[in-house]
Amino acid sequence: MEIVRLVHTMREIARRERAAGAKIGFVPTMGALHDGHLSLIRRVKEISDIVVVSLFVNPTQFGPDEDFRAYPRELARDADLCIAEGVSYLFTPEADEMYPPGHSTFVEVEGLSDRLEGASRPGHFRGVTTVVLKLLEIVRPTVAAFGRKDAQQAVIIKRMARDLMLDVEILELPIVRDEDGVALSSRNAYLSPEQRKAVRAIPRALETAREEVAAGKRSHNDITGVVRGVLAAERLLRVDYVELVDAERLERVEELAGECLLLLAVRSGETRLIDNTRLRPPRKDKKDRQQRT
Ligand code: PAJ
Repeated sequence: MEIVRLVHTMREIARRERAAGAKIGFVPTMGALHDGHLSLIRRVKEISDIVVVSLFVNPTQFGPDEDFRAYPRELARDADLCIAEGVSYLFTPEADEMYPPGHSTFVEVEGLSDRLEGASRPGHFRGVTTVVLKLLEIVRPTVAAFGRKDAQQAVIIKRMARDLMLDVEILELPIVRDEDGVALSSRNAYLSPEQRKAVRAIPRALETAREEVAAGKRSHNDITGVVRGVLAAERLLRVDYVELVDAERLERVEELAGECLLLLAVRSGETRLIDNTRLRPPRKDKKDRQQRT
């Protein structure tokens, strides 16, 4: 595996690989790799000739009071994990390589970027879409993979790719969870043992919502209410938001219909975690409706 630090070198390598007929698969990350990241790498490897992983803690997607400085940086460990997965190139540029002095262009997906995570973290998605577009332009992959752990991010990136007619297939891949159901996240490393126990309530709350939907609950308030109830029982957790939205437009839905996302953000101490689940009315709803009409 080659570690690449310069944009022009990465561009040259990708150009050479494409000219040789290689199908390039790409996985953008901020490092501190875990099985969630590795699941993306494995999937992309199955369908590509070479895999490029980027590791870049992107300053423009962090707010002034957020954890940009504290974000775990473990290049040697991450590089070993990438080697073990058969990654061909690890692209890890410095911040001034990606944002040279005088940089002033940003990309923004309007409408989707200012709600949910965007409301809690103003400017976050503008930073994400800007860096992802740059990375896609440097690597020019055939496919690029994103995790459903960051469901809003995946929706926004798909929309950007569609709107800007990018010549890339965007893959959305399932959430990888720990044995106790907690979604893997680089930020879990910030949690104390007590907080780590408390955040088990997050997957439990999502599971309760799925059960309630199976038992017939459909309204926004009923579904988000059961989630809030489970989370409120943990004194080490504070809810930032719990929302039921349409899975593509990310607009609040009052009644579960079609494919929806139940999204939440929770704080435990200084650590902010997000999780989500897909919800749709059980099939029998459709049958019932047909029988009624
Ligand atoms: P990062 O948080 O490092 O995540 C990189 C990719 O891994 C994202 O697509 C994310 O959704 C996915 N991922 C993280 N945890 C996961 C899990 N438990 N299961 C499945 N996939 C998971 O997301 C970013 O970095 C950045 O915003 C980035 C897109 C790299 C732009 O800077």
